Amino acid sequence: MDEDSKLSRKTVLRAALAAGVAAPVALIGGPALARTTVAGGQVPELTPACHDGDEPTIEQTEGPYFKPNSPERTDLVTPGTPGTRLTVSGYVFGRACLPISRVLLDFWQADVNGAYDNTGYTFRGHQYTDAQGAFRLSTIVPGLYPGRTRHIHVKVQAPGRPILTTQLYFPNEPRNNTDTIFDARLLMTVRDNGSAKEGAFDFVLNVPQTPTSTSNPPTSNPPTSTPPGGTTWAVGTSYAAGARVTYGGQGYVCLQGHTAQPGWEPPAVPALWRAG
Ligand SMILES: [Fe+2]
Repeated sequence: MDEDSKLSRKTVLRAALAAGVAAPVALIGGPALARTTVAGGQVPELTPACHDGDEPTIEQTEGPYFKPNSPERTDLVTPGTPGTRLTVSGYVFGRACLPISRVLLDFWQADVNGAYDNTGYTFRGHQYTDAQGAFRLSTIVPGLYPGRTRHIHVKVQAPGRPILTTQLYFPNEPRNNTDTIFDARLLMTVRDNGSAKEGAFDFVLNVPQTPTSTSNPPTSNPPTSTPPGGTTWAVGTSYAAGARVTYGGQGYVCLQGHTAQPGWEPPAVPALWRAG
């Protein structure tokens, strides 16, 4: 993708979001703030998960505990529910980085003890993105259960489109290194807010949208050069927090230690790398 098309797509997105009265407030007070924390004071990107190739959010296994017919609700917490309060907010975009409204998001997760409610609907609920393509879930940090790292399950479906089944993950979890299902591309950005936590994640669905109908964006942006002062990002390399690399001519700083894998290129995993 050339720079002109990137710019035009961003411009379209900003215009689309600005058209909604609620959008600027949501952007400033919601996920953008969480990203600001990670970005170390940089001006937050409006579309951090949708700015470089627009890779659709990857699919993951549904697992054994999905139940259909969850209640429609954005708040899964009932009075007296134990656990650390967590909000998860973000946007759902299509392939042109335009937000999609009325997208169904069906969440399910374990309770604080790592147990799923398989008889009722505790910690299960579905909701729809609003006119700005935004969603917000109020829940708790799910507990751990044997064999898995901490995660939240979700099904995401734009109107009339196929269902995306995937999972969301938490940064800095020890089991992220041993869970074979874990994928860093699905890491939320998580920050503390008092005793609660605020997670942010933007989904990109494989939904064609008008601005890209005349172009076919590349599926990846491989590095083309190595500016002075940095090593080129490479699969199989172990990076420590603070490590600096270049990728596609852009410099990035590692936010948490990991071993690079295909698909975890810096622009694709904002929870692992920030531009800088
Ligand atoms: Fe699970």
